[in-house]
Formats: sequence, C-alpha cells, structure tokens
Amino acid sequence: MTTSLQSNAVLLNMSGNLPPKVPQVFDDAYRVAVQRVLADFEPNDLIGAHQFRGSERGAGARFVAHRLPEMPAPDRIVVANGTQSILLMLLAGLVGRGGRLALESLSYPTLRSFADHLGFSLSPVPMDDEGALPDAFEAVCRADRPAAYYAMPTLQNPTTGIMSIERRRAIAEICRRYGVAIIEDDIYSLLPRDLPAPLSTFAPELSWYVLGTAKSMAAALKVAYVVAPSAAAAAERFWPGVRATYWMCAPMSGSVVSTLIETGHADRIIDAVRAETRERQAVVAERLSGADIRTRLDCLHVWLSLPNSRPAGKFVAEVRSLGVEVSASSTYAMGDIPPPNAIRFGMGTPRDRTAFARGLDAIAKVYCA
Ligand SMILES: Cc1ncc(COP(=O)(O)O)c(C=O)c1O
Repeated sequence: MTTSLQSNAVLLNMSGNLPPKVPQVFDDAYRVAVQRVLADFEPNDLIGAHQFRGSERGAGARFVAHRLPEMPAPDRIVVANGTQSILLMLLAGLVGRGGRLALESLSYPTLRSFADHLGFSLSPVPMDDEGALPDAFEAVCRADRPAAYYAMPTLQNPTTGIMSIERRRAIAEICRRYGVAIIEDDIYSLLPRDLPAPLSTFAPELSWYVLGTAKSMAAALKVAYVVAPSAAAAAERFWPGVRATYWMCAPMSGSVVSTLIETGHADRIIDAVRAETRERQAVVAERLSGADIRTRLDCLHVWLSLPNSRPAGKFVAEVRSLGVEVSASSTYAMGDIPPPNAIRFGMGTPRDRTAFARGLDAIAKVYCA
C-alpha cells in the first residue's frame, strides 16, 4: 500500500490556523475544571436562567490583564460565545446597515461575510509590514468617514505583522481625530511574551478590546472577552433586548474557562500551546530555509511570499494535488486593492508533528519545483 500524500483521500488541512492540540496538559486541566464547576454549583442554578452580559466577568478581567496594563473593572467586561459573536454585535451596533468599517487591505475573511450579512461597506487601508499605514488610514477616515476600524495590530492575520508602539500611537490619534471607534481583535497575542501594549490602551475611550481563547487555548472553547470603553457602553451594546443574536456563551463553558483561569491552568495550557507552536516553527525554519517567509516562533501562521512566476492560485492548486490545503492571499483581500502574491498556512491543524512535517514537505516540494 502506498503512503504517498497523493493517496490520501482526505486533505491535510493547513489552511486554518488553529492552535496545536496539547492533550498532555489540556485534558486533565479541563476534566478537573468541569468537575469543580459541577461540585461548586447546583447545575440548575448555573443553567436555569440566561446570564446577560456574562456572569464570569471577574475571571475575564484577570484574563485580559495578561495584556492590559491594569485590570479593568468587571462591569466593563462582557463574556461571550467566541470572538465572532462579539464582532457581530459590535459591527451591528457601531457600524450597522449602510455604514462603513475601515480595516487593513488584507484581513480576517469573516469580516467580508459580516459586511454582506449586516449591509455595511468596507474601506480597505493600504498596509506595510506593520499593518495599516497612518497616512493612508487618515485619507480613508477623511474620505469615507468609517464608524469603526477593525484592528489586528498583533500578529496580523494573514501577514503576521506587528505594529510598533509609534504606529499604534499614530493610528489611535487618527481614530480620535475622526471619531472612529476601535474594535481590536488581539486573539494572537497570548503566545508571544514580548509585545507592545494593545492599540486600545492608546485610545481607551474609543476602544473595544477583544481577547478570545480560540487561538491560545483551544479553538472550540467558545469563550471570548470584550472590554468596553465604559460599563454603560458594555450594557448598551450587549443587552440582549437590543439585538437578537446568540452572543451569550453557555454558562457551563463560561464557568469552566473561569475555573481554568482562576486555578492557573489556563496559563499552563497557553504555555503548552506556545511550546508546541515553537517546535513546529522550528521545522518550518528548517524545511523552508531560504524561502521568503514571514512569521515568528510563537505565531500560528506563516506568510509565504512567492515569486511573480508562481501565481498563488496555481501554487495552492499544486500543493492541493499533493493532498495538502493552504490558502492564497486572495482569501484575505478586502476591496479592490490587489493582494500580494503569497500564501498562508497554519501550524495547528495537523494532529501531530509528523503530520505537520508531511504537510510542510508538500509545500516545500512545490516551492522548490
Ligand atoms: C482574527 C481572528 N479573529 C477571530 C477568530 C475566531 O475566533 P472565535 O472562534 O472565538 O470566534 C479567528 C479565527 O480564525 C481569527 O483569525
């Protein structure tokens, strides 16, 4: 029986950028947390009523304090069913039908779906290696008057860019000048340890700081935290009577993640994800040495630039013919700005390092052909 990649009926998915699984740490920590929640709460008390604005805000405050200079008051925090549900509520409330959202010209593709779904327009901002260019951002603010800016200044998806402090300050100042709300998605920020402070800290009065658990602990935990500019703003945007969505996380999930945070197990899981990510990144550095890659040891994705002679769409198809899925830069393109010739692939979806190395071999083989 052949074991070649081509013989695999199921594609090895390296287009997603989930965190690698770390069952040696996660499984026991999660089991203990579930048991503790069941011991500490009467199940019907926990689950018998909706928990508007999230009942786990103290643990959320502790979690976001991993990144914020001081712990926010819990009443500025909302605990929700993942980052997407927070974004949906904020985009509906801050931008809305007929409005405009500024964002980088390459960004999280779900934003395009949200724009279609909610009926707002996108104003893409040209970018460099750090992300949105301040002059271009200001020109967009002046011409399009966006209500909000969706920002991912830390390990940008897909380019892996990190905005310097100076860039963060300049972008925050422009937002202030034009009255643009900041929706900062800091989801990739918990693996590195040497990052600038969030953009939100430079204009807290305008900022909605979002920190999910999906990229640092486990993709399907479905718990994310948002820090609103004020307690009143949190209540106004997330009172369920305002808009009918599914933003509230299930109480069991919220309580289990709170327990993980309070017992320190969340940190242990994040440490294990970081360690496994670094191991996989070391294989990337080895197999793709000499290639034009942008990433970091503690980043969940890699941005691989291609020579013009190798169009990204064709490259993706060639890798696919070897049984591996990666994504072309066009996946992330917002608006009319042509994307650079590049692909993105992720660290975490292959089950183990052997599968990951096999996928990487396919990418390297096509790259070197
Ligand atoms: C930038 C960004 N934000 C949010 C998410 C998803 O977060 P959640 O699963 O918590 O909705 C992703 C997942 O790919 C992402 O890349």
